[in-house]
Amino acid sequence: MCGIIGYIGHKQAYDILLEGLKRLEYRGYDSAGIAVQDSKSHKIELNKAVGHVEKLKKKELKGTIGLGHTRWATHGKPTLENAHPHLDCSGDIAVVHNGIIENFLEIKDSLKNHKFVSDTDSEVVAHLIEKNYSGDLRQAVIDSINELYGTYALCVMHKDHDEIVVARNGSPIVIGIGDNENLVASDVSALVEHTKRVIYLDDLEIAVLKKDSVEIFDKNGKRIDKKETVIDWDLTHAEKAGYKHFMLKEINEQPDVIRNTLNVELPEIKKDYKNIFIAACGTAWHAGLVGKYIIEKQARIPVHAETASEFRYSNPIIGKDDLFIAISQSGETADTLAALRLAKENGAKTLGIINVMNSTIARECDDVIYTRAGIEIGVASTKAYTSQLIVLYMLAEQLSGESIEGLENVASNVQEVLEKNHISDVAKKYFRVYNFLFIGRNLNFPTALEGALKLKEISYIHAEGYAAGEMKHGPIALVTDQVPTVAIAPKDSVYSKMVSNMQEIKARNGRIIAVATEGDKQITQYADDVLYIPNVNELLTPLLTVIPLQLLAYKIAEMRDCDVDKPRNLAKSVTVE
Ligand code: M6R
Repeated sequence: MCGIIGYIGHKQAYDILLEGLKRLEYRGYDSAGIAVQDSKSHKIELNKAVGHVEKLKKKELKGTIGLGHTRWATHGKPTLENAHPHLDCSGDIAVVHNGIIENFLEIKDSLKNHKFVSDTDSEVVAHLIEKNYSGDLRQAVIDSINELYGTYALCVMHKDHDEIVVARNGSPIVIGIGDNENLVASDVSALVEHTKRVIYLDDLEIAVLKKDSVEIFDKNGKRIDKKETVIDWDLTHAEKAGYKHFMLKEINEQPDVIRNTLNVELPEIKKDYKNIFIAACGTAWHAGLVGKYIIEKQARIPVHAETASEFRYSNPIIGKDDLFIAISQSGETADTLAALRLAKENGAKTLGIINVMNSTIARECDDVIYTRAGIEIGVASTKAYTSQLIVLYMLAEQLSGESIEGLENVASNVQEVLEKNHISDVAKKYFRVYNFLFIGRNLNFPTALEGALKLKEISYIHAEGYAAGEMKHGPIALVTDQVPTVAIAPKDSVYSKMVSNMQEIKARNGRIIAVATEGDKQITQYADDVLYIPNVNELLTPLLTVIPLQLLAYKIAEMRDCDVDKPRNLAKSVTVE
C-alpha cells in the first residue's frame, strides 16, 4: 500500500526521494508527493501529482531534508489535495502517513480553528502536531500520537528543525543508517541503494533522524537502544534483468527459489499438536489450503486453513495444544497480523512462513521459517507461492517423520514446465473472453483458486475457481462456448472424476484448457488445449500445475495491454484492514 521515503543528509534530497518513490511503486498507489525543506528560505516546498511518480520529475526542489509518499487512496479520491505530504495551517509542518487514523473525525472536530484542505485522515495529524507544538518537534509528535487511535507509520518535518521525526503503530517503517546521512522508508527496497544498515521500528517507538545521528525513544520519550540489522540483498534483486516484467522474471526464478527454500533448516516442531490453524490472505491462503491437504494426508493432524480476515472475527476455538501458522510474503498483511495476535492471546504456539526478513509478522511469531523467494516485486505473487508450498511440504515431512518422494527433484520438474509449454498460442485463442472458470479437485482445488486469482488480478478478466465437484451445484449454468474452463486434471486419484466433469462441460459446448500429465492422450478427447506437466508423485502436482496457470495469466494480461506488475486498485502489501 502507501509508500514512505525520507532523507536527511548532505546531498540534495529531491532525486533521492524520487528514486525511492520509484522503488516503492510496486506497493501500489494512485498519487504521489514530495516535500523538501528549502535550503535557502527553510520554507517547506511541495510537489504533488495524481498518477505516476514520473510526473514529479517536472519540478525539482532544492534542499537536503525531505519526505516522499505514494498514496493508495482510502479516505478520499486520488486528488492533489488528498496526496501526501500534508501540511498544517502555517505550512511549517509536513507529514506523510501510512495506516488509518480511526478517530480522525473526532480530532478534526476538536481542531475548530484549523483549515483542512483534504478529505484524508492523515491531514489531521499535521494539524494535531501544530496544536501540540511549542518548540520541540519530537515532544509534539509524542503528545500527538497519544491522541491517535488507529495505525500509523508517520514521518514529520518542520521548517525550523533539521530533523525528521518518525513514529510507528501497526504500519511498517524502517530506518536506514548512512554515512553523514540517514533515511527512512516503508520497506528496505527504497533504502538498499544507499545503505544496508537498518533499524526496524516497533510499535509505539519514535525515532529522531538527524544528518549524523539516529535516536530511538519509547512513547514516554525515554531513550531506548535498538539493534541494527544488515540486510543481505542488493539492488540487482530489484531489477528486471532483461525480462519485460518483474512477474515474468519471478515466474522464471521459481526453480532456484525452490532449490534455495529446500535448503532452509526448519525449527524443531512438536508432532503432537491437536490442531493446526493456518491463516493467510490471497495467494498465501491458497498455499495454506494446499498445506492442509498435504499435512492431513501425511501427518494425520487436523488442519484448518482460513482467510485471516475471517479467522480474526470468528472467535476461533484455538488454545495451547494447537499450532497456529501465519503465511505471508510481505510479513505485514494487516489481517494476518491480527489473526496471529489473536492466536497468541489464546495461548497457541505460533509459526510464521514469511518471505520478508524482520517483517512484523516474522518478529511476532514464536518461530519463523523464511522462504527463500528473494524480493517479490510483481503485485501478483508467484515465486512466493511456490516457496510457501515447499515449506509446507517440508513441514509435512517433519510432522509425519516420512519423506515425500520426488520433492528433491521438483525444481527440475518446474524448470521443465517453464521450458516446454506453448502458452502464447493458447493465450491468443482466449485473451478476448470476459469470463473464465477454473476447476480442480483435492490437492488441485486450491490450484484452481490460485489460477483464477492470477488471471483476474492482472488481466481484469472475471475468473472463478471451483472445486470441480461443485460444478453441478450452480456454476455449470455459466458454461457456453464464450466461457472457457481451465480443468486441472493431472493423472492422480481423482483423475476419472475430473474427466467426468470435463465431459459434462463439453456436452454443453464449453471450451476446455486442461492441465494434464505428460503422455496422457485420453485428455485430448475432452480438452481443446492441453498444457502438460511431468509425471510426478501426486502430492507434488500443485507445485507444477500452478506454473502454466501463472504463465497463462501473464500472457493474457500482456496481450490485453495490462499493467502486469502494477494492476489497478491493488497493493503489494496490504497493511490496512
Ligand atoms: O504479503 P502477503 O503474502 O501476506 O499477501 C497476501 C495477499 O495480499 C497476496 O497474496 C495477494 O493476494 C496477491 N496479490 C496475489 O497475487
